[in-house]
Formats: sequence, C-alpha cells, structure tokens
Amino acid sequence: MSGPSPAVDAELDLGPSDADIADPDTYVAGVPHATFARLRRDDPVSWWAEDHAGGSGFWAVTRHHDLLRVSRDVATFSSAKGIRLEEMSDDETAARRTMMELDPPEHTAYRRLVSKPFSRREVMAYEQAIRVLARAVLDDALAGRGASAELDFVDDIARQLPMRMLGTMLGVDDADGPWLVEKGDALLGNTDPEYTSHPVGLVDTDEFRLLPFRSPAGIELFRYAQEQAARRREHPTDDVISDLLRPKVDGETLSEHEFNNFFTLLVAAGNDTTRYTMAAGMKALIERPAVLDELRAAVVAGRGEVVASAVEEVLRWGSVTMHFRRTAMSDTTIGERQVRAGDKVLIWFVSANYDAEVFGDPYVFDIHRTPNPQVAFGMQSPHLCLGAQLARMEIKVLFEELLPRLAGAEIVGPAPRLRSNFIAGIKHLPVRFALA
Ligand code: HEM
Repeated sequence: MSGPSPAVDAELDLGPSDADIADPDTYVAGVPHATFARLRRDDPVSWWAEDHAGGSGFWAVTRHHDLLRVSRDVATFSSAKGIRLEEMSDDETAARRTMMELDPPEHTAYRRLVSKPFSRREVMAYEQAIRVLARAVLDDALAGRGASAELDFVDDIARQLPMRMLGTMLGVDDADGPWLVEKGDALLGNTDPEYTSHPVGLVDTDEFRLLPFRSPAGIELFRYAQEQAARRREHPTDDVISDLLRPKVDGETLSEHEFNNFFTLLVAAGNDTTRYTMAAGMKALIERPAVLDELRAAVVAGRGEVVASAVEEVLRWGSVTMHFRRTAMSDTTIGERQVRAGDKVLIWFVSANYDAEVFGDPYVFDIHRTPNPQVAFGMQSPHLCLGAQLARMEIKVLFEELLPRLAGAEIVGPAPRLRSNFIAGIKHLPVRFALA
C-alpha cells in the first residue's frame, strides 16, 4: 500500500491478509480485516470459486461505493434466489421465503403489511418500556453484588434485552423469552456447534432443507407461531402479532405460511444481531477506558448527540451482519468486473464499513464520528433493516442505563466468536464491573 499505514487502535487485531472469507472457521479467530483491506485495494470485486465448498462461486463486493450500487439496483441484483451464500433448490427457496427473499413489487406489498410496528414513531413510543426492561435486566445481573460483579456480559445482559423486548412487542409470555432466544440462536448460529445439534456443513441437514436456516428449530418455532396466532384469533390483543394478523385497508393479510416464516424471521433477525452489536460495543469500550469514561460522562450530562453518534460507531465497528447475497439477473458490470446473469454477488457490509475512502481512520473507534454512513443495516435498499430503529433504541438505552452504574470495567477471560461467515458474533464476554 502506498502512503502511510492507517492508524489502528492497539486493541484491534486485523487478522491475516489471505483468509478464506467464505469459510465459517475463519471468523472463529475474528474478522479478517487485513484480508478485506487487501481486497478493497487490489481486487474490490473479487471472484471466489468455492471449489471445496461445492458452491458455484461468488463475487465479493468490498467497497462502500460498489455496495451501494448493488443495493440500489434491485432489478439487476435480485434477492429472490436467497440472501446467504447457501445455494437452494427451487422448492427450498419457495418453502423458506421471507420478505428478505422477495423483490419489488411483491416485497413492497409485503413490507407494507408488516412495517408499521417498526417505524421510528412506533419505536419512540417503546422507549420507556425498553428502559424498564433494561433496568430489570441490569438489576438481575448486578444487584446485590457489592462493589464488583463478575459476569458474562453476553449471557447475563446482552442476550436478555433484545429478545425480551421483542417478546413484549409480540405480546408473548416473558417466561417464553429464554426458549425463544435458544431457538433464535439455533437459526442464526446454524453453523456453530454451540448453538445447534445440526451445524450446517458439519453434519447432514438434508431432512431440514425446507425449514428456515435449514434448522430443526424451525419446526418448533412454526408450531409456537401457530399457537400464538390461534390465541389472537380467538381473543385479539393489542400487540404486534394481532397487528400482523389483522387484514389491512385493502383487505390483504399474511397467509399462514407467510406468518410462520415472518415470525421465525423476527426471532432470528431481532435477537442475535442486536445482542452481538451490544457485545462488540461493550468490548470496544472496555478496551478503551478513556472512551468509556467519556461516554459515561456524556450520558450523565444528557448529551444525547454524543450517545447517538456512539451508537452509530458501535454499529459500524460491530458490523454484525457481515454480508447479504444478491443474484445477478442479467449480464452487467460492477466496478471493472463483468458479472454474468445467475452469478452470486455478496455485498460485504463488514468491509464497506471499514472503507478508508469513506471513513477516515476506519480502524479507530471514534464515538464522535460524523458523518458516519455506516451500512450495518444495509443502505439505499428496499431491504434496509426493518428493525433498525428498534435496535438503535435498545443499544442506546442499554448504554444509558448501564454506564452510570459502572466505576470501572475489565475483561477477565476469552471472548469466543461465532463460527459463521454470515454473523460476526462475540458469544461470551466475561467481565468484572466495578459498581458505582
Ligand atoms: C444491530 C442489529 C441489527 C443489524 C446489524 C441488522 C442488519 C440487517 C441487515 C444488514 C439487513 C439486510 C439489509 C439489506 O439487504 O440491504 C436486515 C434486514 C432485516 N432486519 Fe435487521 N438487523 C438488526 C436488527 C434487527 C431487529 C431488531 C429486527 C426486528 C425486530 C430486524 C429485522 C429485520 C428484517 C425483518 C429484515 C428484512 C427487511 C426486508 O427484507 O425488507 N433486524 N437487517
């Protein structure tokens, strides 16, 4: 690379520069930032043959600019053949289809049916409920611990809040929370033996091929979703499930199959992603005590703009959803590369979020970064994360409630990472908190 090397926080391990970005095992050691940096510089739209994995190969789009081009152009880059690397037969695609795997205009109609509870306005109305829940989670984890508490930040705090909040919104029993978390983990952690008895790629999962994420957890979640729907049909309630089941102005409703798949999608997408983002943020803050102090001071002083920019930086830094896939519908070009109809195209959010063309000193964790056009939720796409406002609110409230309780924090054990090429997850974060 010409010119001076970019500044790198001492705490960030950039990993190897020649990693196999498709291999789930790669990410157990951490995100191979040096590999993505090399790709952005030397081969920004690179071809990966996937020989050993038996796939048909894919293009890896690694620059911010090219990622936006692919995201925007939904006519050329379709989501309908799947949004992950895995190749699916037509029956698998049809059985497992959620809104993520639809293109406009079907996607537009579907999204209209489900989007209201997740709008900015509705989520603002949930702020107090999120705060009450965050306090309860923190009380459970920290109360009665004296001056210091040793705990797993992921299991004891970050794993609790998103699922219990989603449970509150959906109107399911709070006691079902842990079960739903477990099933959500089995879906998004479908390649990690810690979270599923049937890790895809390691054991035969053929009998589950028609289920979401090829996971047996899908069977149980479908059954649970149906029970919840049946109860609402008998006694309508004021919650998101009832809202989803209610016919809309034009008489449209979700079919039973669509409802099952959407419910399962929420349990998967609304759970681990927010948890792992919180974990990435907490780890980054603990590793930088001066930044932690600064953010705590901003919270205490009610400086909402600093908290808001810190949340955006945590999202960028964590880049938990590492990529989504599209499929080219016609011959086209991305950057200087010729792409053929039918080719798989992976847009690497985790790489675009560290693109030095867009983010000055991308390897520095800067809670004041402005502007911060991070793409953790996607960007300029009709598929932009439906839960973005909810996730932002939960991360903000957690830090607002937690930081004033801390006099200090340290990491006291290893922080193992998820075996996945899709989700960048810190599975456990053992910490010692000095309590204020
Ligand atoms: C920090 C947490 C989260 C991250 C990083 C994240 C990331 C993403 C990304 C990258 C996409 C695809 C964007 C694209 O294709 O352009 C997406 C879509 C989606 N997310 Fe999230 N997400 C998070 C939290 C949530 C939450 C809390 C929910 C729901 C409760 C949720 C529900 C969805 C849904 C339903 C979609 C599909 C939207 C569509 O296809 O129109 N996500 N998310």
